[in-house]
Amino acid sequence: MKKPQPLDKHLISFMGINALRSSHPGVRQLKRQQQGHSAHGNKVWRSSFVLMDYLSSWEIPERAKVLDIGCGWGLAGIYLAKNYQAQVTGLDIDEKVQPYLNLQAEINHCFIEFTARSFQSLQKSELANYHTLMGTDICFWDEMTSPLFDLIALARSAGTEQILIADPGRPPFWDLAERCVAELGAEIITRRIYEPWKTEKFILAIGGRD
Ligand SMILES: C[S@@+](CC[C@H](N)C(=O)[O-])C[C@H]1O[C@@H](n2cnc3c(N)ncnc32)[C@H](O)[C@@H]1O
Repeated sequence: MKKPQPLDKHLISFMGINALRSSHPGVRQLKRQQQGHSAHGNKVWRSSFVLMDYLSSWEIPERAKVLDIGCGWGLAGIYLAKNYQAQVTGLDIDEKVQPYLNLQAEINHCFIEFTARSFQSLQKSELANYHTLMGTDICFWDEMTSPLFDLIALARSAGTEQILIADPGRPPFWDLAERCVAELGAEIITRRIYEPWKTEKFILAIGGRD
C-alpha cells in the first residue's frame, strides 16, 4: 500500500499564498475529468509569481476592483484578494480553467469571480468598472499584440487607473511593450525573484504609482 503523501508537497508556498502543483490530487482529478485543448491554461505560470512580488510593494486601495485577463488558475488575483481584499474577476477564454481557479482560491480561503470570454470582447463601459487591469503570460502569439494594445488603450480611455502585464519577454510582448511605451506612456520594469526559483520577468506598467 502506498504511504499517504503530505499535501504541502503538492503546493508551492510563496508570499503567504499556496499555488497548486500539477501533482496536487485535486488537480490530477480535474485533469482526469477534463480532456481537450487548452490555450496554455494548464498550470500556474511563473510570471504570476513575479507580479505578486511586484504587487507586494504596491499601494492598492482596499477592495479595489481588479480584472485579471487570461487568468488561468488565477494566482496573482488570489494574492490581491487575500492581501488587499481586492474584488477580483478572472477572465479567460477557456472555461475549463474555472475549476482550477476555484480550487486554488479555495485552498487560499478566498473567492475570485470568473467569466469565460475573450479579452477582445470587453467593452469600454465594462472596463470603466475596474481600478486595475492585469495579466500574466498572456501575450504569447503575434496575433495577440494588436488586440491587447487596443484593450489597454480602451481601458485607459475608460478610466482604468492601472495596467500591469507580466511576461517572460517573448517577442509579441516586446512589440506590445514598444507600442505602449510610445503611445500610452507605459514603463517596462525588470523584476527578479529568487524563491521559489530564480527567475527574471518583465512588467509592462501604466499608471498606478504616479
Ligand atoms: C499562459 S496562460 C497564463 C495563465 C495565467 N495568467 C498564469 O499566469 O498562470 C494564458 C491564458 O490566457 C488564456 N487566453 C488565451 N487567449 C485568450 C483570450 N483571447 N482571451 C482571454 N483569455 C485568453 C488561456 O486560456 C490561458 O488560460
